[in-house]
Amino acid sequence: MAQKITVKTLQKYKDENKKFSMLTAYDYSTAKYIDEAGVDSILIGDSLGMVILGYENTCSVTMDEMLIFTKAVARGVTNAFVVADMPFLSYHTDLATAILNGGKLIQAGANAVKIEGCNDYIIDVVNRMTQSGIPVVGHIGFTPQSVNTLGGYKVQGKTDDALINIKNQAIALQNAGAVAIVLEMMPENAAKCVDECISIPTISCGAGKYCTGQVVVSDDMLGKYGEFKPKFVRRYGDMRKFILDCATQYDRDVKSGDFPNSEEVY
Ligand code: KIV
Repeated sequence: MAQKITVKTLQKYKDENKKFSMLTAYDYSTAKYIDEAGVDSILIGDSLGMVILGYENTCSVTMDEMLIFTKAVARGVTNAFVVADMPFLSYHTDLATAILNGGKLIQAGANAVKIEGCNDYIIDVVNRMTQSGIPVVGHIGFTPQSVNTLGGYKVQGKTDDALINIKNQAIALQNAGAVAIVLEMMPENAAKCVDECISIPTISCGAGKYCTGQVVVSDDMLGKYGEFKPKFVRRYGDMRKFILDCATQYDRDVKSGDFPNSEEVY
């Protein structure tokens, strides 16, 4: 029988030069199927702001919303390592608030929280959370909660200086206690350099094949979120078409009187 994946399992993947998979999930049944499929880690990403709640970006997501979706996902998972995103402003104002909010996500069923960016304050947050028993996954490169300061969805780490900066951030996050680091939207070779300068696993989100883990938004790879498909996402299904076809057929059957039939009534 498959065993519960922990921070130790993820570290073992890095140590043994093996790969692990991570997908986002936001609801009970999707999380249950992804877990059953053997995916190693499930992220309740604040991407739910766009794909579930229809917001323009992740900055509108609140702690209350993250808690609802984290609880739903955690109820569906048996083995996967569950990571919950800390939403915009839930860890930026002061350390006490950051630890309280991180703790709430752990109490909701997450095995770790993910926070974006890296500066002296974020390093303090990672340090204090780790000391409080809250495992932290870092997230550098492109950080969606900073979309307004970064000026759009742009590939990061393209120049030598930018890469040195990201490498220093990765080392600082590792030293502060981060258990893994998501690298988002970076050139593949830049992500390789970052991965090689730390001993904790890196998780690629559009950062190429050299990271230990890979993560994508499940709605993107299932073809459910139709508005936009990032270049780095491989589509494994066309759920938008599947839902459209089923709904069209249902509508037709209701209107023609075909549904319900004699076996579908009490
Ligand atoms: O919110 C999200 O889904 C993420 C990505 C890394 C996929 O943070």
